[in-house]
Amino acid sequence: MSESLIPDLAPRTTQAPATHGRRVYVETYGCQMNTYDSQVILGVLEAAGYTPVTDHLAADLILINTCSVREHAEHKVISRIGELRTLHEKAERPPAVLGICGCMAERMQDELTRQRHRIDLVVGVDHYDDLPGLLAGQFADEEALPAPSVSVGHDGDVHYVAPPALYPTNNSHLVTIHKGCDYKCTYCIVPSTRGPQSEKRPGSILNEVRSIIERGGREVTLLGQNVTAYKWDDELDFAGLLKQVARIDGLDRIRFLTGHPCDMHPHLMDVIAEEEKVCPWLHVPAQSGSDRTLKRMKRYYRRDEYLAMVEYARRHIPDVTFSSDFIVGFPGETEADFEETLSFVRKVRFDTVFSFKYSERPGAPAARLDDDVTVDEKKRRL
Ligand code: 5AD
Ligand code: SF4
Repeated sequence: MSESLIPDLAPRTTQAPATHGRRVYVETYGCQMNTYDSQVILGVLEAAGYTPVTDHLAADLILINTCSVREHAEHKVISRIGELRTLHEKAERPPAVLGICGCMAERMQDELTRQRHRIDLVVGVDHYDDLPGLLAGQFADEEALPAPSVSVGHDGDVHYVAPPALYPTNNSHLVTIHKGCDYKCTYCIVPSTRGPQSEKRPGSILNEVRSIIERGGREVTLLGQNVTAYKWDDELDFAGLLKQVARIDGLDRIRFLTGHPCDMHPHLMDVIAEEEKVCPWLHVPAQSGSDRTLKRMKRYYRRDEYLAMVEYARRHIPDVTFSSDFIVGFPGETEADFEETLSFVRKVRFDTVFSFKYSERPGAPAARLDDDVTVDEKKRRL
């Protein structure tokens, strides 16, 4: 990453001499935010002298970047930890250090640091800059077994400006433009694992895109938990940022993920319509088509408002397509509520939908509700 292009990022080439020759393997679960974060992690560690490898058996350090959005995602990681230990024991090549990053680090630090998991490092989403220091402690004495190092929480003035290591495998790249979420949908654990919304500086975002183009990239996907809620100040919201990114020479296409229905204002859709580089694909999770359920999910829009938004987009954006996420079996969802969702899906005619069975997340507000739709019924609705 060129330092001159990213003036407000700490230079990474001076962090540590590349003499220890340790190899790092990163495995990523969950959403594109995590894919991006894994590139950030690799960037931080490369600057500290680690070499990325794609074979975990060849690694001195294994990091698993995790997701907590549903229980199933967490179970997968817990069993993967055991599997990796077994594979390494069989190969007589135990990794020196095994660490957990991402949302599970935030939500399950107590569980993960229990002795039976034998985890050395638990690092939350705002703390990847701490990795070299924490690892120095873990690698300090090969004979000793230091206690797990833990770095989690959201109390600092974090603006999430760490640059990713760009490993172009194609010409399409992710650019996270903010972190966290200020919506508090009742089913969702993300506001607690990723903290409040905090914007990356517009200058950093534009420089990151320019740097991608310099390296041969032609496409970017702007990322955020609610990318359309980006707001730097009264002058610059997501629509304004999109226009500025679209002005960058050498860029062919811009996508963005994920939109929130409440932020799909007409002026944003007008920009999407006007800017040729912006792909007219809108991923705007509806979650339900029943007003009763939407209210209890605290989504802050009604079914008819979503439908009006779709209608506006179809009138103004040529070739626009919609995709969405839905949750079935939210606590208290009746057959009539579910039928409303089905009729809503039929009405909108989404290009793609991703549907999930409700999964109770300890700590999310809906965990206080009775998870009363049976597993079989959730399966049927799915
Ligand atoms: N149970 C099931 N699905 C969930 N999602 C978020 N939280 C939960 C949960 N507790 C889904 C939503 C979101 C997608 C990324 O994951 O549909 O849009
Ligand atoms: Fe979770 Fe809702 Fe925020 Fe999306 S908008 S991350 S579903 S709380």
